[in-house]
Amino acid sequence: MFEVRPSKTSEEFAQAIYGIGQYFGAPLTEERTERFSKILPFDRMHAALDDGTIVGGAGAFPFQFSVPGGVLPCGGVTVVGVSATHRRRGVLRAMMDAQLRDIHERGEPIAALWASEETIYGRFGYGIAAWAGDVKIPHTWNAYERPLERRGRTRFVTNEEAQTLFPPVWDALMRERPGVFQRTEAWWELRRLRMPEEEQANPKQFVVLELDGSVQAYAIYRLFPNFDDGSFDARLEVSEVIGVTPEATAEIWRYVLDIDLYGTLTCSLIPVDHPLFLLLANPRRARYRVGDSLWMRLVDVGAALSGRKYVRDGSIVFDVRDAVCPWNEGRWKLEDGAAVRTDAAAEIALDVSGLGSAYLGAVSFAQLRDGMRLEELSDGAVQKADALFGWRPLPWCPEIF
Ligand SMILES: CC(C)(COP(=O)(O)OP(=O)(O)OC[C@H]1O[C@@H](n2cnc3c(N)ncnc32)[C@H](O)[C@@H]1OP(=O)(O)O)[C@@H](O)C(=O)NCCC(=O)NCCS
Repeated sequence: MFEVRPSKTSEEFAQAIYGIGQYFGAPLTEERTERFSKILPFDRMHAALDDGTIVGGAGAFPFQFSVPGGVLPCGGVTVVGVSATHRRRGVLRAMMDAQLRDIHERGEPIAALWASEETIYGRFGYGIAAWAGDVKIPHTWNAYERPLERRGRTRFVTNEEAQTLFPPVWDALMRERPGVFQRTEAWWELRRLRMPEEEQANPKQFVVLELDGSVQAYAIYRLFPNFDDGSFDARLEVSEVIGVTPEATAEIWRYVLDIDLYGTLTCSLIPVDHPLFLLLANPRRARYRVGDSLWMRLVDVGAALSGRKYVRDGSIVFDVRDAVCPWNEGRWKLEDGAAVRTDAAAEIALDVSGLGSAYLGAVSFAQLRDGMRLEELSDGAVQKADALFGWRPLPWCPEIF
């Protein structure tokens, strides 16, 4: 049997992260270990030991995370990996078990992650909870459908300036949409705005849009110049563009779309209800490709269901199966925004991963039923649940963690 416990020293921390690092060819140097430990505390990095040797690791960022109508503590599951020498011997299962218990004991009612493969996490109670996709917009197809009268002013800022100017814009996104985690100061500095050595040739550009006397949007992007067949064919890689209002979003996107000399603009992780698709005159030319993004897990069903808002008052009774977190098993009645244990007859029976999928509003109970992920036990229950859970705008997590 393997022992799974939080890492205690920086050496253990680095070895546990190497569980995944070995697949990315990235051994942790002392400097990188120290940097990473500023956003992931040692005791949030579980290590799996086989006879004293670390053979895997699983981390969980201590997030504050936006859910429909509110913010909840959340385990942001990350750097999960098992040494190639120990695969398929139950190490991941042991780590997931220990990590979910830890998240539960810490009072974080939900957990979120990005999956390297869709086949891994369903068995541990996670469900696909948001969709996002990539665009590849040719410069020639960058026009808007309607004329845009630009009122704002864009200007470059340094990464030190960005450190104070960007967070309020991000925080506004967090208030607007579910699926956004709060970035700490260290996160901004070390994850989002850092200029690593290897990026020096094509450094990140930071731009703000000022409108009506305040910063209302920002953009982070890099240009990769290329001269092909006698013409410029650069790639403009947009890593983050966020605005606090539809007007600011339209203006900052107009700014990046108008940059000269690029052939194709690429941007990832865009939600399906992003305004860009109706701003563009030729959205089809953006070659949008959608896939799963965030996966959610209700670690404490009662607290999680009570911790988000609903579109209207009403009630529904779920019969929840949860093989990994047995404290969630059984019937729960959601009534007027609060979830409590009940003996009432269940209207919908489902695995806890189904509730994770429906939680942020991107996956409907009708989709879960049609995808054979739930049983409707009384007529109209699915419609009733969708009337409560449906939420707009859709969840959006603009950064893979
Ligand atoms: C994915 C990974 C963590 C699995 O670890 P592991 O210790 O081999 O997994 P376990 O032996 O505990 O398997 C637990 C269950 O998950 C299944 N499983 C594990 N990896 C799987 C995969 N990639 N696809 C489908 N099923 C998988 C196992 O078959 C087992 O199923 P069972 O419970 O029905 O018997 C490991 O292979 C790995 O490190 N891969 C590369 C890095 C990676 O992808 N990490 C995830 C980052 S999000």
